[in-house]
Amino acid sequence: KFDGLALTPPMGWNSWNKFACNVDEKLIKETADAMISSGMKQAGYTYINIDDCWHGDRDSLGFIHPDAKRFPSGMKALADYIHSKGLKLGLYSDAGSQTCGGRPGSRGYEFQDALTYASWGIDYLKYDWCNTDGLKAEGAYKTITAALRKAGRPMVLSICEWGTDKPWVWGPAVGHLWRTSGDIFNCFDCVEDHGTWKSWGVMQILDKQDGLRQYAGPGHWNDPDMLEVGNGKLTPGEDRAHFAMWAMLAAPLIAGNDLRNMNQETIEVLTNKNIIAINQDVLGIQGFKYSKLNGFEIWFKPLNNGNWAVSFLNRSAETKKIDFNWKAEKVKDEVFQKELNADAILYKIKNAWTGKSVGTTKSSLKTEVPSHDVLTLILEK
Ligand code: GLA
Repeated sequence: KFDGLALTPPMGWNSWNKFACNVDEKLIKETADAMISSGMKQAGYTYINIDDCWHGDRDSLGFIHPDAKRFPSGMKALADYIHSKGLKLGLYSDAGSQTCGGRPGSRGYEFQDALTYASWGIDYLKYDWCNTDGLKAEGAYKTITAALRKAGRPMVLSICEWGTDKPWVWGPAVGHLWRTSGDIFNCFDCVEDHGTWKSWGVMQILDKQDGLRQYAGPGHWNDPDMLEVGNGKLTPGEDRAHFAMWAMLAAPLIAGNDLRNMNQETIEVLTNKNIIAINQDVLGIQGFKYSKLNGFEIWFKPLNNGNWAVSFLNRSAETKKIDFNWKAEKVKDEVFQKELNADAILYKIKNAWTGKSVGTTKSSLKTEVPSHDVLTLILEK
């Protein structure tokens, strides 16, 4: 799978977190327009992804059609519109007989659906895992990969089987990203129990990334699910912490809010240049948790040119004081063989959120982080 797609984590928007099944062509076009007018396109966001429920029925020959009421102009016209804006269009299907929302799945129609998507000009496919009785994940995802290749149009393939069958092991050869967990829940630190399944708060999803970083890299990413930034449940500090940690994880940055109605705070988080640069760094190395004590975590991410990103994440209910002696700490990335050596190298430090210089690694970092917030720094050689 050397197709040159998703060499850095994909950036875009997806309809599900905010709109669930309420999707139509008006929303999609307005979202594309808002992606441009808000500065998000300029900041690197490209994909406009329609999640579940765009589907109508299959015709007598088995071809899938969009819901004619919601997408009266058809998918090809919509893709043309999106492309005319310099953006890309994504769709959603499912490896089983039906999608999670009960729409027609692709099982048994994989090659036909891939051809249809290609003929519409689709650029990204999220492929879900509901109603797959008896199927094996790796094989089912290989089938859709083969179908997409045969169809001949390059598409990013987003594997969505919730981390059930260790997709990080087989996913790199099959798709470009794979979900590592069940669905994100719009809450900073909590679990939503649905009885037979659970959805996970932002911090719960973060905890599920332990041990997975060696599987990620250019063209193949761990996907801790789409963003809840700007969806009204997280505080500004929590939005920052969520976004910064997804950046540290080299996670796909797929916004999940209403781009047409964003306040300034949301725009500033989603378009922060330095945080996005951490996420989009060409090495594509997923960050790691360096330490954890009483709800306070320190994460590091090696960047290109020997630079580093570091995030001080405060999950606790109190303000945390930092007194971090760069020279005394031994920060080593054993998996990717990188070492932060403040003894031998003087790094300049920049606050990623403000872009301001905050000294060097010569002296200890002395500051504090409010509850449910993050301080993200970039260390430059
Ligand atoms: C599953 C996926 C979600 C979303 C819904 C749509 O729950 O994990 O991301 O696509 O299905 O029904």
